[in-house]
Amino acid sequence: MNLHLTVNGVAHEVAIVPTERLLDVLRDRLGLTGTKEGCAEGECGACTVIVDGLALNSCLMLAAQAEGRSVTTIEGLSAAGGLDALQSEFIERGAVQCGFCTPGMLMSATALLRTQPDPTPTDVRAALAGNLCRCTGYSAILDAVASVAARAVEQPGD
Ligand code: FES
Ligand code: FES
Repeated sequence: MNLHLTVNGVAHEVAIVPTERLLDVLRDRLGLTGTKEGCAEGECGACTVIVDGLALNSCLMLAAQAEGRSVTTIEGLSAAGGLDALQSEFIERGAVQCGFCTPGMLMSATALLRTQPDPTPTDVRAALAGNLCRCTGYSAILDAVASVAARAVEQPGD
């Protein structure tokens, strides 16, 4: 079957087999390897992408379910090709160690801040609850998200 979807603002038509997951299409057919495969069963969040505004596990989604939809991956976070505010803050605060969880963390955090620009600490924890990190202990990640949110509220449009 032919799948039509938009990824990071670019329209694609991809020939797939019905059993392929969205994760497979992103990584193996479109070469977007920033989205990681950890558990492959919806437990770790490493494969998180944003589909029509919602953070979803791409290992649990059939590619066919993305027909006509708009997907954002870690490669599409910064339109200019540099780092966006969350990515820079993660680096600044040491919220990245091995980095395997980082794309998924960033996609979940991005989806949160797009819908809820001024989240409480509980909101941030809830939004990242499906993303596991074996390295950082989470504090730096939570602080980075809270810091970017606070800055955006203080300096809208910055
Ligand atoms: S690889 Fe998808 S949730 Fe772990
Ligand atoms: S930085 Fe290594 S799993 Fe999170």
